[in-house]
Amino acid sequence: MDILVIGGGGREHALAWKLAQSPKVKKIYLAPGNAGTAATDWDSRFDNINLSDIQALREWALSNRIELTVVGPEQPLASGIVDEFRAHGLRIFGPTRAAAQLESSKAFAKAFMQRHHIPTADCQIFTDSAVAHDYVAQKGAPIVIKADGLAAGKGVVVAMTLDEAHTAIDQMLQTGAAGILHNEGGACIVIEDYLEGEEASFIVMADGKNVLPLASSQDHKRLLNGDAGPNTGGMGAYSPAPVVTPDVHARVMREIIMPAVRGMEIDGIAYTGFLYAGLMIDANGHPKALEFNCRLGDPETQPIMMRLKTDLVDVLLAATETVGGLDPIELQWDRRTALGVVVAAHGYPSSPRYGDAIRYIPADTSDAVIFQAGTQRSAQGQLQTSGGRVLCVTVLADSVKQAQQRANTLAAGIDFDGRQYRTDIGHRAIKKLVAQPSAGPHLAS
Ligand code: AMP
Ligand code: GLY
Repeated sequence: MDILVIGGGGREHALAWKLAQSPKVKKIYLAPGNAGTAATDWDSRFDNINLSDIQALREWALSNRIELTVVGPEQPLASGIVDEFRAHGLRIFGPTRAAAQLESSKAFAKAFMQRHHIPTADCQIFTDSAVAHDYVAQKGAPIVIKADGLAAGKGVVVAMTLDEAHTAIDQMLQTGAAGILHNEGGACIVIEDYLEGEEASFIVMADGKNVLPLASSQDHKRLLNGDAGPNTGGMGAYSPAPVVTPDVHARVMREIIMPAVRGMEIDGIAYTGFLYAGLMIDANGHPKALEFNCRLGDPETQPIMMRLKTDLVDVLLAATETVGGLDPIELQWDRRTALGVVVAAHGYPSSPRYGDAIRYIPADTSDAVIFQAGTQRSAQGQLQTSGGRVLCVTVLADSVKQAQQRANTLAAGIDFDGRQYRTDIGHRAIKKLVAQPSAGPHLAS
């Protein structure tokens, strides 16, 4: 069959790479894809199509007899690509526009969590800046200010001082605030309590009723080693995340994931697609949901796909066949650790430079794959940077430490001007496993 993957980042390259291993697949089209997913003389498994408009994609999928579509990013989901494809009888895995509000509106997500008793930080919702300023003055710092609408990772300010909190309120409540997509009703913010603990990414697949958890993972959001510097889309990730012990895993399923999927069903908005809970796990192993995303994480997907042994096409077909279709499916995982190091462009994240020639990328092996993201070919065929996160070097190894070393060695070999990458991806797991060596064999997936 022919499959369409919507998106063009490292997450979508990793999805396409995994889907291409299925004997059921003839060709995988990516819209828009990147240089790593373009058709070449020596590899015709992939091809890129240059469409982004939802109606145009639906027309193209119908006329090219696409049998399955998988959506990477949140934007097309929030714009209703799943509703549009389904209305024309096309099989697609993702949440409807209404269900995607779990990510596209923080106010919707917080009200949903409160209504269904899902543990999360206490919060209040504001549209009036004077009232919001009074509220933070009374609460004090640290405090967290979140824009209601999608903001490509720029809608959250963890304010360590009251000054930062007041500035964030003014910025986010402006009409036309930079980079924020306001929902109907105009600018709106959520102000929530600051939570302490360790973060983890917990991603599941849902078919409207049943839930299939993927392997746990942990992202690294700051630009620099030691979790310093500005926030980014993610500078690296690994799987499994030792902070998600079997006990934490069970609690997350029972207290966060199942109530979320049931809650959506009760509210009349069946949830289908990947569902990503961003977790904060406190020192006692109590998880709270920081946020929901209605999609896979990037770069979490890259290590997760490296570890997935089950045929992903079979899983997606089951998930889109019928409500409850995931029931008989079990996922098999490689027991090794997968770890991905993002190699970013000069100037990322504030002003990434495009057009730098990428002179060398190591060849893929069975346990090391270089997923591409912000890459394109120039008119002369030269591979060059075309986005903030350029590549993600992803490896499998017997320990987090070995995976980190191997990924760093490969990243050091990648050659383009101004490249930036962290050398400490996985540091929390490494510290934990040194502190409690017995944690190793007891990890949940
Ligand atoms: P979000 O997009 O809601 O996940 O927020 C982005 C990042 O902000 C998270 O990955 C956390 O690092 C941080 N964050 C969000 N909410 C909180 C909170 N209530 N307490 C502490 N940190 C938070
Ligand atoms: N890696 C975080 C995200 O995809 O939202």
